[in-house]
Formats: sequence, C-alpha cells, structure tokens
Amino acid sequence: MSTVNECPTVAVLGLGYIGLPTAAVLATNGIDVVGVDTNHDTVEAVSSGTVPFVEPDLEIAVAGAVSQGRLTAQREVPDVTIYVLAVPTPFGENHQPDLSFVDAATDSITPHLKDGNLVILESTSPPGTTERLANRILAARPDLSLTPSAGTGLIHIAHCPERVLPGRVMVELVTNDRVVGGLTPEAAGHAKDLYQRFCKGRVVVTDALTAELSKLTENAYRDVNLAFANEIANVAEHLGVDPWELISIANLHPRVSILNPGPGVGGHCIAVDPWFIASAAPAQSPLIQTARRVNDSRPEAIVRTVLDTLGDRAAPRIAALGLSFKADIDDLRESPAREIVKRLSHLVPTAHIRVVEPHISTLPSDLASTANVELSQLLEATEDADLILLLVDHAQFRDLDVTDLRLNGAALIDTRGIWR
Ligand SMILES: NC(=O)c1ccc[n+]([C@@H]2O[C@H](COP(=O)([O-])OP(=O)(O)OC[C@H]3O[C@@H](n4cnc5c(N)ncnc54)[C@H](O)[C@@H]3O)[C@@H](O)[C@H]2O)c1
Repeated sequence: MSTVNECPTVAVLGLGYIGLPTAAVLATNGIDVVGVDTNHDTVEAVSSGTVPFVEPDLEIAVAGAVSQGRLTAQREVPDVTIYVLAVPTPFGENHQPDLSFVDAATDSITPHLKDGNLVILESTSPPGTTERLANRILAARPDLSLTPSAGTGLIHIAHCPERVLPGRVMVELVTNDRVVGGLTPEAAGHAKDLYQRFCKGRVVVTDALTAELSKLTENAYRDVNLAFANEIANVAEHLGVDPWELISIANLHPRVSILNPGPGVGGHCIAVDPWFIASAAPAQSPLIQTARRVNDSRPEAIVRTVLDTLGDRAAPRIAALGLSFKADIDDLRESPAREIVKRLSHLVPTAHIRVVEPHISTLPSDLASTANVELSQLLEATEDADLILLLVDHAQFRDLDVTDLRLNGAALIDTRGIWR
C-alpha cells in the first residue's frame, strides 16, 4: 500500500503558472516531484532547469530542484502517492465552465491510482468539480472508494485552490493562508499535511464545496470592487473629472477604500472565476454578473476615448505601452490591453500601432496577423507617435519621464493613472 503519510512522491499535472511553482516549492522542501505536462516544450524546458514564462525567482528554484534530482518532468503520468492537478479551467461558450482539462487530467491519473493515494485538485473550479472528479475516478475504478469498505482500496480526494498573485508567486505560495477542502475529513487532513510541509500561513480545513466556492468568492469580491472603480471612472470621464483625483479624495473618508480603475480586468482568474458562480447560481448572482459586464465593457470605453482623441487624423501613429493583463508579467490571457489594441487595429485600419511589451518576444497570433500592429521598442514607438496609450503599468513605464514624452507633441492617454 502506498500511503500519503510515508515520505510521499508527488506528481504535479500541469507545469504552468501555478503547477510549476508548486512543484518547485515541494521539491525545494525535500519532496521528490515529477512534473507532468502534455506540452512537449514545457517538459523540455523544465527538464533542463528553465522556465517557459516570466515569474520572479522561479527559475532559480526550478534549476536548483532539477540539478538536485528532486524535480523531473515528463509527459507520462507516473506511479506516485500524491497527484496534484493544476490544469487550466477556462470558460467556453456563454461563459460556461470548460472542464475538459480537468477531465483529461483525471482520466490520465485514474489507471495509476492505488490504495491510500491522495488526489488534490488545485485548479480553480466551479462548485461540484471535486465531486465530479471523484465520480469520474470511481466510475472507472470500482476497486476504489472514498471511505473504508471491504474489498476496495481507499482513495483520498481534496480541493486546495491557489490564491497567489502573479509576479509574487514564489513568496505567496509560502506565506499565504490556504484553504483545504476534503471530500472526506481524512482527505482534508492528508492534504493539510502536504501543504504544511512548506506553507508558513494557516492551512484551514473545510469541505470541498466550501473550498471551491471560497476561491470563487475571493475573486468575485475583487471583480465587484474593480467594477465599482471602473464605473466611477466611466462616470468621471463622462463628466470631465479626473477619476484618480476623484477616487483619492473619496478615499480620504475613513470608511471608503475604492480601488484603482484601469482599462478593464483580465487574467485567468478574476475575469473568469465569477462566471463559475454565475453558472452555478445564475438567479442568485445578479451583482456578480453585472460587475463582470461593467469590467468587460471598459476596453470599449478606452477605445472610444482613443478615437475621440485621434479625431480625423489620417494614418495616426499609436504607441501602445503594455499588452499583459497586469504589471511586470508576460501573461496575456483575457488581457484588456490586448483587446484594446485588437479593436483599434480593426477600427482604424490606417493606424500604425507599435506595441511595446517588454515581457514578450513575439506578438500573439491574433495581433501578429493584423497588418497594422507590430512589436516595437519603447524609444522607437514613442519618438514620432501621435498618441501614446499607456495600457499596463510595467516598471519600465512607471519610470518614464512624462515631460519628455509630452515634448514630442504626442497626445497621452494613461489608463492606469501613473503619469498624473
Ligand atoms: N495563473 C494564476 O495566477 C492562477 C492563480 C490562481 C489559480 N489559478 C488556477 O490554476 C489553474 C492552472 O492555471 P495556470 O495559470 O497555471 O495555467 P497554465 O495554462 O499556465 O498551465 C496549465 C498547464 O497545464 C498543462 N496541461 C493541460 N492539460 C494537461 C493534462 N491533461 N495533463 C498535464 N498537463 C496538462 C498545459 O500544457 C499547461 O502547461 C487554473 O485553474 C487557474 O484558474 C491560476
């Protein structure tokens, strides 16, 4: 019997923004980890101790764990004692959750499961996904069960959502409090034991459904608050008021703390997870759905401002600063900046749009295929621009001397409020 209480070996399925840091932290804390990914290039990169995306301090952890032999990577699922699933959970048509990656990862580990193994779903998941995962396993493996019963092996299944901030993942993986939800109390206990090996925050134990909903609630809370800030920005801009000045004044009230508005809300989490609540409880979540729509409409408001600023200028040169969904990372998923550039390229076909994104080396295919958008360097993009559009508050842009930019005669639109 392989039990989780022995010195475990762990397989982490999905070596992306969440799975790879988790694998590296586990390995750094003395656990033998096999990283599994369906992407050949990712497996190659990790096997050679490198990281195929930008995340501070991750590469040094991966390189160290690989060189010590604690972390390996492969495409095949191994026989281990603990399986951690960190695969994507996007939405599909009409914002309905797409669980195909979770299903595929579940099916890939199912033949390998043995009595006493632990399966942890780390992917952000709609309510009921952990139970769905269990049902899928048990349907294929009638020789296993979740509670002790004669003639079957015992399998432990838990959900442990990840709440790290991109750009601070290696710090927050260790310092954040965690929630562990078991399909059984024993499963939660085993999962807690694993996280306590490296987590210095509290590890709070609950059931799987509460754990699923807690992660979604956190991100819906952020989204609703961002929607308020963005709606106030819409109102302020409509009335000719500076939204950042307005909000900074309102925040002087001792019980008011409005977030910063921006060009929209992006990323794989906040822009996605509230829809999982909406999908599970549509009639009960009007505020959450409205917040999503307010945030999704913000790129359009920025595009309108750009068009108003350009007026009837022929063949305008636009420098678009930033493409990622937030500062100092390379993640373009659900990025409002990317959406704004795409819309502008279609709406102003005569424009020449130079995108400055220091964290990528090639444009994503949807922009690369447009004739009037190119990836550029900062100086080249700004020196003769008619309009400089700040979309992401990357450190490189925060340090810019705005007076210099203005001297070139370009109009400035600052969607992040950093050049005020
Ligand atoms: N990125 C974040 O900041 C963040 C934060 C908290 C939670 N999450 C959640 O974590 C989960 C993973 O997100 P991510 O950002 O790491 O995604 P990602 O796209 O960066 O990585 C996912 C990886 O899984 C691999 N993969 C897909 N199917 C697989 C399979 N069947 N077996 C093995 N590997 C497979 C992909 O090739 C990819 O490398 C999602 O549910 C996401 O919502 C992400």
